[in-house]
Order: sequence, then structure tokens, then C-alpha cells
Amino acid sequence: MNLELKDKVAIVTGASRGIGKSIAEKLANNGCRVVIISRKIEDLNKVKDKINSSKILCYECDTTNQNKFKEIIKEIYDKFGSIDILINNAGITRDKLLLRLNEKEWDEVINVNLKGYYNTIKIVSRYMLKNRSGKIINISSVIGQIGNSGQSNYAASKAGVEGMTRALAVELGVKNINVNCIAPGPIQTDLLKGITDTQIKKITSQQVIPKQFQKSDVCDLVELLLDERASSLSGQVLHVGGF
Ligand code: NAI
Repeated sequence: MNLELKDKVAIVTGASRGIGKSIAEKLANNGCRVVIISRKIEDLNKVKDKINSSKILCYECDTTNQNKFKEIIKEIYDKFGSIDILINNAGITRDKLLLRLNEKEWDEVINVNLKGYYNTIKIVSRYMLKNRSGKIINISSVIGQIGNSGQSNYAASKAGVEGMTRALAVELGVKNINVNCIAPGPIQTDLLKGITDTQIKKITSQQVIPKQFQKSDVCDLVELLLDERASSLSGQVLHVGGF
């Protein structure tokens, strides 16, 4: 347990399952007050029951809905007086080869994976700026760097997140707000349904450490970035498995 994290207020988007759920659990175990956000309250309540921590607060919200997210964050700030950590994790795929990929599928992925991150950072950073302190971690993907057939929309959204991270790290760095990315390779979650073992191997073979990593490895990097000893890191992309 990292005592520095005790009672810090952390927002985790897309926390009803997969990587986001594991990050929420990790933060709660470190004593953070964790606000978990996703599209269905029933799924969030199940996560709260499983983690079994009084430090978890559940809010149903689609991250593309800026107004609703704004109301939630205001309520949290009024309650606790700070928002210390934002983990931008909510993400989707709509994989198709370009000639079959329609505009709706392109827009959906860009809206959630890139604009959704802009929405949440814009709203949360206002409160971080007030308190002159904050840590923002954006979950991107190795696909944003190496690309993948059938994922032009997803790769564009994740590469966009990495560019946005570098720009915001510069913009917010003077105010003591760190903005970094964690870029995982294939991690076993619902998002990987439909991806074959051969495809997974093809991607992991391009990593410096050519094996498949787990949700817990992503959580460990989150913990590392939140450690005060990592406060000199900003605008960085940490690749799970190295790249
Ligand atoms: P998942 O599909 O298991 O979970 C995604 C979560 O995001 C769910 O809770 C879902 O309800 C939520 N979500 C989706 N759209 C949302 C929206 N508009 N508003 C609020 N919540 C929304 O996926 P997984 O694997 O846990 O992915 C989490 C993040 O990690 C995503 O950003 C994904 O792109 C990224 N990632 C995942 C990898 C993998 O292999 N699983 C590899 C690299 C990156």
C-alpha cells in the first residue's frame, strides 16, 4: 500500500470491467477514494460489491456526454475538495478493413477514444488547476504506434491520445499537473474478443519483451506513475512490454 495515495480522489473511466476495473481495485487497495464511471450503473455496482470498499463511488455516464460528466465532477469536488487523479481508460473498437469501415464506425471510435478523453481532461483539469496539483493517465495502445490491419480508426484514436498527452503535459506541467500515457499491447479482456491467438502473437512479437502481459502489469505502471518519485515524468508513453 502506498500511503501517499491514501484518501486521494481518483476518477477511473470505463471501470465496469477489464483494465479499468482492475485499476479501480488497485487504487482502492491503496486507500484512494475511487469514482468509477461507465455506461451502466448495474455493472458498476457489481464492481463495487466485488471490491467491497466503502471508498468506491459509482456514477453512470457516457464519457462522450460532457454535460453529465461535468455535473458528476462538480459533485465530487464539492464533496471532497479535490480531484487528484484521472485515469482515462474508457475505450471501444469497431474493427474493419478500410473499404468496409463506414463513417459511423469511424466516428464512434474517435468520439469515445479521443474526444471522450478531451472531454474528461477539460473538465477535471479545471479543478486540478484550482488546487495546482494533479496526475492524469491516459490509456492508449501499442496499436497507435505500430498500426494493425482493420484498426485504422482505433490506431488513429490512440495515436491522437498520445499527441494530446504530449501537448497537455507541456500546457499543464507549469501548474504541477502530470499527463502521461500507458500503452498496453494485447491484454486479455472483452476488448480482445474476436482477435485470434495468431494476431496476438504477431503484436506481442514486436514488443521488446515478446510475451502477453496482464491487467495487473498495467495496474503496476499506474501505481508507478502515481508515486511521488515519478513526479518528474510527464508527456511520456510507457509501453507495457516495451516498444
Ligand atoms: P473492455 O471492453 O473490457 O472495457 C472497456 C470499458 O470502457 C467498459 O467498462 C465499457 O463499459 C467502458 N466504456 C466504453 N465506452 C464508454 C463510454 N463511451 N463511456 C463510458 N464508459 C465506456 O476493454 P479493456 O480491454 O479493459 O480496455 C480498456 C482500455 O485499454 C481501452 O481504452 C482500450 O483501448 C485500452 N487497451 C486495451 C488493450 C487490450 O488488449 N485489452 C490493449 C491496449 C489498450
